[in-house]
Amino acid sequence: MEVIITPDKNKAALLAARLIAKELKAKPDLVMALAAGLTMEPVYRYLAMFHRLEGLDFSQCRTFSLDEYIGISPEQENSSRHYFHKHLFQHVNIPPSHVHQPDGMARDLKRECEKYEALIQASGGIDLQLLGIGVDGHIGFNEPLSALLSRTREKALTPTTIQQNAMLFGGDASMVPPRAITMGVGTILDSRRCLLLVTGAAKTTILAQAVEGPITSMVTASALQLHPHCQVVVDDASAAELKGRDYYRWIFLNEAHWTEFHDLEALEPREGA
Ligand code: GLP
Repeated sequence: MEVIITPDKNKAALLAARLIAKELKAKPDLVMALAAGLTMEPVYRYLAMFHRLEGLDFSQCRTFSLDEYIGISPEQENSSRHYFHKHLFQHVNIPPSHVHQPDGMARDLKRECEKYEALIQASGGIDLQLLGIGVDGHIGFNEPLSALLSRTREKALTPTTIQQNAMLFGGDASMVPPRAITMGVGTILDSRRCLLLVTGAAKTTILAQAVEGPITSMVTASALQLHPHCQVVVDDASAAELKGRDYYRWIFLNEAHWTEFHDLEALEPREGA
């Protein structure tokens, strides 16, 4: 695992977007798993700008949503389909047939989850898994005590998560669906590469637990410590409780593969870049 600390949430999103763009250029038929949430919005905004200004090509890539609320149709505002359409897909040239998300309205949810796993397999597996973190340490909707080998399945949301996500439902927690389909921790760990983005002072304690604490199903993001290729991009605010801050900064400044990312201003989208 590597942790990269950037000055603010905008720079963190920019760096994450550049890392994604680099993967996509290297492998145009990249299979990406995408996380929703407020943290990820500026990342998708940057990717859309790279497409518009620099011609970043999405025509061959395929995407899988990390999770979906149960009982919400794809047309509804808080569905994962709606979120990704709004923030990314409508702005880039990804063919609709390349976009996948679990069907939260499926009659047979167990079968829907199995189908989703099979579809991921049939696509060759996930190359790049984008992740945010919930305040209770979840990745996807893998709430505390989720098995660290779990696959895509139904999950009941914790009151903390329902409260956290209420702002996306007009601030009304009673409108947040209590259950979701989520890729499992095992599904996520099978990805060839993981990129976790964490920003904001509200995530300080949970970030330290996830990255530097024990691996535990109580904080499913801690399972990423097991992943052979996981990068964690954070901002200064969320990094406040990390004990290894100085070492992480040293890595960023001295490891050769980060050199091209040192000048964060130069990473901004540029016409014709
Ligand atoms: C939801 C999603 C997660 C996301 C998390 C953080 O619960 N299931 O995938 O990472 O929210 O959201 P935010 O970025 O809004 O804090």
